[in-house]
Amino acid sequence: MIILAVETSCDETSASVLENDKVLSNIISSQISHNLFGGVVPDLASREHLSNISSIVNKSLIESSKQLKDIYVIAATCEPGLIGSLLIGMNYSKALAFSLSVPFIPVNHIQAHLYSNFLNGQQADFPFIGLIVSGGHTLLILVENFFRHRIIGYTLDDAAGEAFDKTAKLLGLGYPGGHHIDRLSKTGNSKFHKFPLTIVKDNKYNFSFSGIKTSVLYYLRKINFENKKSDALVSDIAASFQEAVTESLFYNTLKAAEEYGVKIISVSGGVSANSRLKEKFEKLKASGYKIYFPKPEYASDNAAMIGLTGYLKYIHSKDKNEFSSDSFNHLAKPRLDYENF
Ligand code: KG4
Ligand code: ZN
Repeated sequence: MIILAVETSCDETSASVLENDKVLSNIISSQISHNLFGGVVPDLASREHLSNISSIVNKSLIESSKQLKDIYVIAATCEPGLIGSLLIGMNYSKALAFSLSVPFIPVNHIQAHLYSNFLNGQQADFPFIGLIVSGGHTLLILVENFFRHRIIGYTLDDAAGEAFDKTAKLLGLGYPGGHHIDRLSKTGNSKFHKFPLTIVKDNKYNFSFSGIKTSVLYYLRKINFENKKSDALVSDIAASFQEAVTESLFYNTLKAAEEYGVKIISVSGGVSANSRLKEKFEKLKASGYKIYFPKPEYASDNAAMIGLTGYLKYIHSKDKNEFSSDSFNHLAKPRLDYENF
């Protein structure tokens, strides 16, 4: 089955062609115009998606050596995300599916991150604990099978990626800042300063990251950072911050795995590209854990994971008519109700 997939939920315009779960092409265009503003400007994002989408889809077809006539189904991200951005990819994909008379499959972006570790023949073993860490989401999920899961923890405020981005901004690094903090931490001392993490009392698997960003801010003021700034100081603070955030993600995930008696852990989303986070989880292999991490190109937003999720949704569906071009009334809502994916 040849699948064409489109992802436009935030600031990446991406299109991918897959043959079942195998990626034939995965074109990602990251919008750099937001860098100037230190964050994603929603209106700008939709405009860029609109001007990029056709050429990105064409590139994905050319690179996969497939043509529109080969496409069996089209999948696109429909939720959650920036409403204007979602509408571009979703309506473009629906219109294309309608014109080709092929099924259209709406995909939930978070679910796609969850399955991104199972591209290209990587077998999924169940049950597993899924940690999704991106710029907009931080979720801990008990996954019993494809499309059977339970959210057991989430962030009460900032997402892990958001904390990385905001801290990077305080340190004068670019946007998005996660990879800068990761890179600089390699030469920094992670024990330089202990940043406190909020203890969440209501649910033992929930996270909170807004406090650490504030404590970085106060710490920088206290040490008169702007006047003392040096490469070594920035690296030490970056490493100390990274240590605190990755330890919180690791601690809650391991606690859930132990308490649910599950020895398989899957980490995904943009922050899963973090080398320290990976290092912590990799160590668990020595105690018999199976650990999944995505390849870097499937960690950040990409259409390949949307295509895989669309494919899984299609083959697991009992009534394929629900995706037919006669029933395209899937609405996109910028929603955060996680229970619903
Ligand atoms: O999954 P993603 O591409 O977009 C969302 O769905 O939000 O995640 C983007 C996030 C950004 O916050 C970015 O700073 C973070 O992933 N990120 C990292 C690293 N690479 C990207 N955070 C920490 N370490 C990294 N190496
Ligand atoms: Zn994402």
